[in-house]
Amino acid sequence: MYTEKVMDHFRNPRNVGVIDNADGVGEVGNPVCGDMMTFYIKVKDHTITDVKYQTFGCGAAIAVSSMISELAIGKTLEEASHLTNNMVAEALGGLPEQKYHCSNLGADALHKAIEDYLSKHSDTLLKKENKQGINTTNENGREK
Ligand code: FES
Repeated sequence: MYTEKVMDHFRNPRNVGVIDNADGVGEVGNPVCGDMMTFYIKVKDHTITDVKYQTFGCGAAIAVSSMISELAIGKTLEEASHLTNNMVAEALGGLPEQKYHCSNLGADALHKAIEDYLSKHSDTLLKKENKQGINTTNENGREK
């Protein structure tokens, strides 16, 4: 029923835990089964340098969390925000059809952690973009 990869990530989940001073935190729950995931990210220079998570859920949800943490580390925020549920399921060699909904939680929790980071750092990012020469004023010299 489960692929070897799913079983491996379920039995030996990677990157489990909490990042105390995380740069972004995302929490999601599935109201149908009651499973929950919280993702923590560390960000440096617009790149995800660490991911940890706490998953209270089924075996597929644990394997999905583990896999998405591996996929996200080292990616830029933009690249990581394009990771989809299908990509996670594919990286695990597939999930049984009735377990596909479990893969939604992983991508959603990661995306929420990224949104949380961006909401806290929008000022910093804007200043950085300005320094890099991105023009934020219109032709009259006013802020766009
Ligand atoms: S059964 Fe709830 S996430 Fe898998």
